[in-house]
Amino acid sequence: MQKPKPIVLKLGGSAITKKNKSFTLNKRTIKRLAEEVARADVDSLVIVHGGGSFGHPTAKKYRIDEGYEVSSQMIGFSKTHQAMKTLNKHVMDSLINQNIPAVEIQPSSIVITKSGRIDIMEQRPLMKLLELGFTPVLYGDAVLDYKRGFAILSGDQLVSQIAMRLNAGRIIMGVDVDGLYTADPRTNRSSQLIQHIAVQQLKGLQDKIMRSNVTDVTGGMLGKVLELIPALEHGINVTIVNALKPYYVYRALKEEEVVGTFIEKG
Ligand code: IPE
Repeated sequence: MQKPKPIVLKLGGSAITKKNKSFTLNKRTIKRLAEEVARADVDSLVIVHGGGSFGHPTAKKYRIDEGYEVSSQMIGFSKTHQAMKTLNKHVMDSLINQNIPAVEIQPSSIVITKSGRIDIMEQRPLMKLLELGFTPVLYGDAVLDYKRGFAILSGDQLVSQIAMRLNAGRIIMGVDVDGLYTADPRTNRSSQLIQHIAVQQLKGLQDKIMRSNVTDVTGGMLGKVLELIPALEHGINVTIVNALKPYYVYRALKEEEVVGTFIEKG
């Protein structure tokens, strides 16, 4: 019997950590999301999580995203990676507590970027894990870069690449807002949730789309969505849902009706 196409699920850093408080977990949300993933029980799943208040503050402080300029940044690279490993440990513990056979893959060990873009990626362990029925878990990370020495690899870029390389069926983005809005909903009262959009329209809307998190070194909501365009053009649909709201991720995983933004090639 042929295996179903994998789903790639992103758990946004702003959902699994308290984004305004450095190194603070959103423990209840992590636990609930693990329960939702366990209950959804999808056949083939890859999870990628973001950095939130674990990854971004250190990456920003040491300007890891700008590449290697001075040796004092080196400890910042180590600290950023270490912070991501700490966050990952909590995510892994929660998944395994729910009896999900989750196995972590450290992105900095399988990826080298070139000017911030994935250049090489060793995907075979990931494929083998999936083949055996495991749930591989990756995360945004501080990685080595051929041009800049090092760089920040966002979970979003990873999601897009993994989805394309594995010929995924769908991408689900669990974030801390209901989806993509026509303007920033916090500052613009007339902003509206875009429930359905095709890639072509999305490109047209680019300028208008809000940046959802100013402290995010890898871009806000705009950056996230634009990062997914290659996967969308590959024919992989994207559903953006609010991971802070109970059972939204679950419903997206089960392909049930849910409030959010659905993006397709069109
Ligand atoms: C960021 O990953 C990783 C680091 C800063 C090391 P993401 O950019 O995917 O994280 P979130 O989801 O926006 O927090």
